[in-house]
This record gives sequence, structure tokens and C-alpha cells, in this order.
Amino acid sequence: MSLIKIQKIMGNELAKRTFITRPPEPPYELLLNDPTDSIFIGITRRFGVPFTWTFNTLTNPHLSVVGITGSGKSFFVKTFLIRASYVWGTNAIIIDWAGEYKGWVKQSGGTIVSFGKGDYLNLMDLAGAKPIDRVKQIMNSLDILTDISNFPEQKRLTSEAIEQSYLNAGFIMASVPVGDRDAPTLKDVVGLLEEKLQEGTYQYPAELENAIYRLRQFSREGEDYFAQKSTIDLDRIIRSGLVAIDLSGLPDEKFRALAALFILQTLKEKMRLEGWSAAKGLKAIIVLDEAWKVASDERSDAITIIREGRKYQFGLIVASQNPTDINEAIFSNVGTNIILKIKFQKFMDYIQGSLNFSQFIRGEIGKLGVGQAAIDLSFQTSQQFPSTFIINRIVGEVPLDVYTITLADLLTENELRDLSIQKEYSLEKPFLRSKLIESEVNTDAIDGIMSELDAKNRLVDLREFVRIMLGQRLQRELVVSFLRSSGISDQLITRAFSYGE
Ligand SMILES: Nc1ncnc2c1ncn2[C@@H]1O[C@H](COP(=O)(O)OP(=O)(O)OP(=O)(O)O)[C@@H](O)[C@H]1O
Ligand SMILES: [Mg+2]
Repeated sequence: MSLIKIQKIMGNELAKRTFITRPPEPPYELLLNDPTDSIFIGITRRFGVPFTWTFNTLTNPHLSVVGITGSGKSFFVKTFLIRASYVWGTNAIIIDWAGEYKGWVKQSGGTIVSFGKGDYLNLMDLAGAKPIDRVKQIMNSLDILTDISNFPEQKRLTSEAIEQSYLNAGFIMASVPVGDRDAPTLKDVVGLLEEKLQEGTYQYPAELENAIYRLRQFSREGEDYFAQKSTIDLDRIIRSGLVAIDLSGLPDEKFRALAALFILQTLKEKMRLEGWSAAKGLKAIIVLDEAWKVASDERSDAITIIREGRKYQFGLIVASQNPTDINEAIFSNVGTNIILKIKFQKFMDYIQGSLNFSQFIRGEIGKLGVGQAAIDLSFQTSQQFPSTFIINRIVGEVPLDVYTITLADLLTENELRDLSIQKEYSLEKPFLRSKLIESEVNTDAIDGIMSELDAKNRLVDLREFVRIMLGQRLQRELVVSFLRSSGISDQLITRAFSYGE
């Protein structure tokens, strides 16, 4: 660009206008809130404002969290839940798809419910709902998770049999049940359909057989996690502080999704029943991490909960490595989007398409390190400033004596998806020190390495780790053998080195 052009662009008027109408962060009055009624997240990059989250000024209390594996999604969720519990006494229910939260929940003194390992949920429990509404919800879950919507006759048979089971058990379809009568289970429903088949008078026996087959997958002996008397009481769970509902013991995604849908349906009903109270903050937060169909299907209650907005003081957090697994309606309706590092352009396109941030922010998101985030807020009032800004680091409590080395940056898309590939390593400080001493690295270099790691908040990616070691004049061979002995594959070591060169 020629000098003359630059001078033109920097003409007084325009320069002022860009600065005044498009400062790069929302005004600090909206970022910095009353500490007794908000949650500290981190410091903004541009103006160094401590960002404290509240939904008082936002369209609703719901959040989405996206980013590649190892980018810090779960770290953010944990930090957020702990602080919400301090500040507002918020209860949290984590629908724990892969069982990745249960260790932390246990450590924090919370409760763990494990389906597939001794806990059961009866899908037909009413939990305060009318049977007629529960039938619709169950059919909705079957619509989302099975092919039943393609078979209207089977759908009718199934829905009728569910209704009949409630009637047989003494319930009245259009009334909230009183007393503690046991709900029927899917086994009763399958039983009714089988009887009908046996009678032999029904016109389309093949339809009946298929309807039976479909339901049996959820009620078969050994896989009847949702067709037995419930061992958990969702009503109590919603008031139990911190709870992880571990779904990792269930045989497949379909079972996990069924559990998640059921829990969301029930919590949504509770939320509607309880309504708004004058208390500050959030009563409960429900977390859905990697919940695939539950977050992507528009018929899911995740979307209803988000659409119903702020009035119930229930927050929903939806987190995923794969933003395209999160329905567009979630992205564009949640009050807060937390965007951690994103690698794939198609994911970036999807998010940018929903949130409309600038090319500048897009570039920044591609360069984020672990724990750094772009945050997009939807304020209730219309605004004259960009609503997306960068946080240098999500500030949370990390163990002081452990270094974490992340590998995600070096992995391909397929490797990232492969659950058998380790994506981060933890090195305890004394261990690292003794390994380096063993390798005859001098004390100054060891101290240098450790203080650089500390300065990075004890968290680096492998490339950075290699760069720091080489920066302290360690021999290349020594670094390689150190990494090998820590269990990192030669292939990744090569990648880490070749980036640096
Ligand atoms: N803001 C942060 N400050 C300090 N450590 C962090 C931060 N964010 C993440 N970490 C650490 O980085 C590692 C990866 O983070 P985390 O488990 O949250 O990633 P994730 O995005 O949930 O990954 P996955 O998709 O594989 O579940 C963890 O050891 C975590 O403690
Ligand atoms: Mg995670």
C-alpha cells in the first residue's frame, strides 16, 4: 500500500470513528461486576480488565464452551462450577458422558451416580409430571434416538402401550399422581405388546414385532438400566451440591443419550415448576460435556431449556470439541460463548457464522494457547461495541507442584478423536528435577527450565517445552531421550522438533 493511501485512511475523522465506535472490548462497566454477585473468569487481553461473569446484563445464564481436546473446556467448567457454588450456593449436575469429571467430583466431596455400575433410572418415572406428558417425552426421546418416526404405525402402537401401562398401574393420564405409587417400566410396555402379538388378532404382526424389538434393546436383562425401579431421586439430586452422573459405564452412545435426554426432561419440568425466586444468581447449573445428539437435535430439551431463557435461574453449559455437534440454536441463543483454541477451518466457519465476530478475532482464536479464550457475550441492551474479546488465561486453581504438557497442537484430526491416544502428560516437579539431574543437566539450566515453566503457569504444549529445553542449551539428543523416557512417541517428538525449526 502506498504512503498516500495510508495517510488518507488515517485521516483524523476516520481514525477517531474507528476508535470510538469500535473499541476492541465491551466497556468495563459491563465486564467488571459486583464481586458478591459474579464469578471471576480472567483478565481481558486488550485493556486488562478483570472479567467477572454475571447474567444480570446478559440475555440468559446459559453457556457454550468449545475448543480442541486439551484446550481447557473441562478446566473452565470446573472453575465456573466451584465459584458459582461459593458465590451463590449454586447446585451443579454434570451429565458426565466419558466419566471425566467423576474423579474431580469425588475429590470435591460431591456425589457420583454411575449408570451401568449399579444405578438405575426408570424412564417411566413421573417425577411430578402427568402421565400424558411423560408419554410425549418418552416418544420424543425415541424419535431422537431411534428410527421410530419413520414408522407411524409402530409409533402409535408404542405410544398406546406406554399409556396402557400407566393405566394398568392405576394412574390417571391427565393428573399429577398423588401418593407414591410405583411407575410401570418399559418391561411392562414390552409385555403388553407381546401379549397383543400372541393374541394373533392384530392386522400387521410385523409392525408389532418391530415395535417390540425397538423397545427391547432398552429393557433386555443386563441392559435394563432404564427399565428398573430408579435408584436415584432427581428431585434430591438437583439440591445436592455437586453431582456427576457418570454415563461412561453404559454400553453405547444411544444409552448415554437416552439417559441425558431423560435427565434434561425431568430437570426442565422441575425448573418450570419452581419458577423464579428473588434470590441472587443461579440455583442450579446443568453441564452437558460432549453430549453429541443431545446438543445437536433440535427436538432435544437442551434447546428448550436455552430458549426458555433466564426466568428460571437454571443455567445450562454445553461443551464440545466439535462445535458442529452443537445445534446452531444453542450457539446463537446462549448468553455466553466461551471459545477456546479451534484448529479446523470448518469449525471456525461454523462458529464465526453463528456469532459474527471479526476476522481479527478469528485469527486470534487460531493462535490461542491452553486456557486462553475468546468470549462472546449477548447483552440485553443493544450495543455499539464488539461483544467478543480475548481473555489471556482462564484463572483457576491448579496444583502447584505439577507441570502439564499438552500435545493437542501436534495431533491430526483423527488422532484428536482417537480416545486411545494420550493428549497430555503431567510431570511432578521433583520428578522432572531428578530426571534432569540424572541426565547431568547443570543446576542453572534446571532452574532456568523450571522458572520458565512456572512463568507459563506450569502449562505448556510440547513444542514450547522443547523450545524451553533447547533454550537452556540442552543437547538435542538429551531432550529426545528425556521425552522418550516420559512415554512420548518418536513421531510426536519429531513433530515437536520440526515445528521449532
Ligand atoms: N486455564 C487453565 N489454567 C491452567 N491449566 C489449565 C487451564 N486450562 C486447561 N488446563 C490444563 O490443561 C489440561 C487440559 O485441559 P482440559 O482437560 O480442561 O481440556 P479439555 O478441553 O476438556 O479436553 P478434552 O476435550 O480432551 O476433554 C488439563 O491438565 C488442565 O488442568
Ligand atoms: Mg474435557
